[in-house]
Amino acid sequence: MNAINNNPITDIRHKFHEIQVSPEWCFKNVRSTEQWTHGYHRYPAKFLPNLVKKLIENYTVEDDLVADLFAGCGTTLVEAKVHGRKSFGVDINPVAILITNAKTSPIKPEVLYAKYSQLLSILSENIECKITDHKLHEKLDYWYFPEDKLKIANLYYIILKEPDESIKNFFLVALSNILKNCSKWLQSSTKPQIDQNKTPADPIKAFKSQVNQMIKRNNQFFDHLTYNGFINVPSEIKLEDARKTSLNANSVSAIITSPPYVTSYEYADIHQLTAYWYEYINDLYGFRKGFIGTFYSLNQELNTHSFTGQEVVNNLIEKDKRTAKEVANYFNNMYDVGKEMYRILKPEGHVCVVIGNTTLMNVKIKSSEVFAEILQLQGFKIVDIIKRSIPNKLIPTIRDNITGRFSNYDNKNSKLVYPEEYILIAKK
Ligand SMILES: C[S@@+](CC[C@H](N)C(=O)[O-])C[C@H]1O[C@@H](n2cnc3c(N)ncnc32)[C@H](O)[C@@H]1O
Repeated sequence: MNAINNNPITDIRHKFHEIQVSPEWCFKNVRSTEQWTHGYHRYPAKFLPNLVKKLIENYTVEDDLVADLFAGCGTTLVEAKVHGRKSFGVDINPVAILITNAKTSPIKPEVLYAKYSQLLSILSENIECKITDHKLHEKLDYWYFPEDKLKIANLYYIILKEPDESIKNFFLVALSNILKNCSKWLQSSTKPQIDQNKTPADPIKAFKSQVNQMIKRNNQFFDHLTYNGFINVPSEIKLEDARKTSLNANSVSAIITSPPYVTSYEYADIHQLTAYWYEYINDLYGFRKGFIGTFYSLNQELNTHSFTGQEVVNNLIEKDKRTAKEVANYFNNMYDVGKEMYRILKPEGHVCVVIGNTTLMNVKIKSSEVFAEILQLQGFKIVDIIKRSIPNKLIPTIRDNITGRFSNYDNKNSKLVYPEEYILIAKK
């Protein structure tokens, strides 16, 4: 195997075949994944909070700085705060930033109640408002019936007037999470697809029900943090690229993260409703840029740094060159992420990467083995590899055999995905 920077790297490929599932990392009996603010907003492939909790407890101590370079909806940051650890997250998706900001900003319950009653009274006076002063993106006409669009716009502009950032984010997240239910988007699908038979939920009723659930979660989070003296533990989330963050070198005690799957979820497509409503984007093309793991990178490179990665790419070239290039690009992006991880981590610090393998065009995409090699190539020492099974409810187990995207049973190309993943633990 290759070695750069004169770092000898150990061939650990056999370990992936030998290791058994560790039951203590499967959390089979966990009843709720919605504790604290975790349940604010749906997010594809989000972490199981108990998994992050166990990693935080095993690899960090109070006051440590924990980072997540693919923060998503902020599970690592929320758990860090619950455990009195400082945290820093980055994500390329502005919707992830909004959600994580709200989830890590507990609000005094009495303030939240007061703001909510204020919002409801403005809403009751304003319900017939016409959107004449604002220009909404024309794409929204495709997804919404006119009366629902009007109600959502009304809510949106009332929320925007809120001067307090935390309160505003709280209500924007509530609204964001009902946008799909209130649209014509096929409810069970992560693909943008109209359901001709759908009766969308009423935006006002859905919003109220969403806010009521979130208020309970905020209060529970607020009380826990106050009781433990963690309310002011800093937590920061930034819209940045995992390959080049603003974190200082040698500044982070531990990294707990889970990278995007290769060509499985198109986060830009999935979050387009929020992105159009909240004016984060003009078009999907621009929004997709920067995401790792997308099928739209149009990369031309077929060489990768890792030995296993190159094997995978070579197998794919025989099936489909475009897919081979996308996968090579994914591995090369991950190589750059590995480099950034090494830069920001303190010596002796741990990186914990939760990662699963997939199959594309009948070729096994051994992302976990490739990432283990990448970490070693950067100079990390792999100290543990844990295998866990994933409860089916947390991740779709059906994939389109051609595109590799998560799919449903009625797709004729569908294939069962083995619901297992690995936790790579490496030390600097
Ligand atoms: C598997 S999800 C992480 C979910 C997260 N663990 C959670 O609990 O919500 C992967 C994330 O990587 C983000 N991502 C993709 N490309 C990125 C990049 N270049 N830099 C930073 N984040 C990126 C996606 O937006 C997505 O939120």
